[in-house]
Amino acid sequence: MSEQGSTRDERDRVKVFDTTLRDGEQSPGIALNRQEKLEIAHQLARLGVDVIEAGFPITSPGDFEAVQAIAREVEGPVICGLARTAKQDIDAAWEAVRDSQRPRIHTFIATSDIHIERKLQTTREDVIGQVRAAVAHAREYTEDVEFSPEDGSRSDVAYMAEVISVALQEGATTINVPDTVGYALPGEYGAMFEELYRLVPALREVTVSVHCHDDLGLAVANSLAGIQAGCRQVECAVNGIGERAGNASLEEIVMLLRTREPALGLWTAVETTEIARTSRLVSRLTGYPVQPNKAIVGRNAFAHEAGIHQDGVLKERATYEIMDATTVGLRSNAIVLGKHSGRHALRAALQEMGFAVDGQALNTAFKRFKEIADRKKQVTAMDLEALVTDELRSEGIAAYALGEFEVSASSTRPPLARVEIHVGDGADGDGKAPPASADLGALRVGESSGDGPVDAIFKAINAATGVDAALREFRVGAVTEGQDALGEVSVVVEVQGQTGAGQAVSTDIIEAAARAYVRALSIGVMRAREGERGVGLPEPA
Ligand code: KIV
Ligand code: ZN
Repeated sequence: MSEQGSTRDERDRVKVFDTTLRDGEQSPGIALNRQEKLEIAHQLARLGVDVIEAGFPITSPGDFEAVQAIAREVEGPVICGLARTAKQDIDAAWEAVRDSQRPRIHTFIATSDIHIERKLQTTREDVIGQVRAAVAHAREYTEDVEFSPEDGSRSDVAYMAEVISVALQEGATTINVPDTVGYALPGEYGAMFEELYRLVPALREVTVSVHCHDDLGLAVANSLAGIQAGCRQVECAVNGIGERAGNASLEEIVMLLRTREPALGLWTAVETTEIARTSRLVSRLTGYPVQPNKAIVGRNAFAHEAGIHQDGVLKERATYEIMDATTVGLRSNAIVLGKHSGRHALRAALQEMGFAVDGQALNTAFKRFKEIADRKKQVTAMDLEALVTDELRSEGIAAYALGEFEVSASSTRPPLARVEIHVGDGADGDGKAPPASADLGALRVGESSGDGPVDAIFKAINAATGVDAALREFRVGAVTEGQDALGEVSVVVEVQGQTGAGQAVSTDIIEAAARAYVRALSIGVMRAREGERGVGLPEPA
């Protein structure tokens, strides 16, 4: 909280409900494992969000376990699990969050006629009955129950008010009205809340929440309209990830309220200096790069290209900057290690950055640190952060891992690549469902030529794994500035109609590209297999 904290009114505080791990994880190609979800949840706690929506426990055993681990380990924020209105959904959500110091069950059902008639194929009356039963059942477990009328912004307000009244009678403590399909205009969304407050005066006694999708690029504007109409919880995701065009971006909402606090009179308890780091962590673990001109966290958000702007900023920063980059945690890169730094120095530096790395994890981190320190004069906090995140990503991917490789490139003949791929538990060697006991640890070799060295190594990886992955996106960036900077590569591939995203860092860009590709391919394969087996959201009983 900033220096204004002491004079702020608690009634003007907007609670930040982060759904990066639930709605955010529903983005195509994203598949976070338990360890990665935990790491993000710990960072969200450092960021100071009020609520972490950790997942949708009924959807898969993996999601259930991740939510449970977060509930057990992450202290501070409320830990929330999503559930449809079915009893088994609510039971699973409760089992997953019950060990949290502050558990919440979030249950939802659609209230728009198009969803009721076409998707749920039921009636308005039946929906009301389901809401009554679901909220009442959730309240048997916990006092903290959130209810969302899905597709709220396209619902008949009078009917939705009736549904919300039932949820309140049964004891819901937060009412979230989503713009599920990102269709609303700010004026309409704000007016909808005013009408709901008029029709359901009891809403003034609970927390009312906004949840906006970005299909028309209005998610943040709509969220603000709802907040200005009286809502005091905003649901959002780091880097704006989420279903389709994504959710309202957490960093944009938080910095909007912070920067325009004098005009809006609203505030959040978020520790804004943790924003940049949270954004980098989410981007690396999800494999979703942040667009360079993205507000607040894009590479260019604080860059000035025109000479006249540079001149102005040098004379007085506020001429062209409405926010100070240090407020969002940029430009703080104080830790510097070199090739003579030892294990203790590395451990201390990592600890200072909030990474508790010991035992085998410290050995691995030290080995990679040494490799990089040999090639790069100074290893900064940004490099260390990229390395540790990279290692974390490696731990969870069971399908394939990159072994040794050789690539030759020349202007006189096509490039050639040869790769070794370690085949892990559950890998899918022929692109179809794997046998129950996959050949754990087997080494496969693939060779290929290509249009360039990167194309050749990608094709060699396809040959080694036997997976016909198609490259959909390929981006190269640098972790820091300078010629010896660590390269960071993001790759999206498609495997049997399913996407997988991967990211990796190395001083060698071919190695980073190959590792990112192997990760993306592993996720694509896993998702394709889930698709074949019909794994996904079960039908409610
Ligand atoms: O967008 C939406 O309606 C949702 C609900 C589950 C809250 O994500
Ligand atoms: Zn949503």
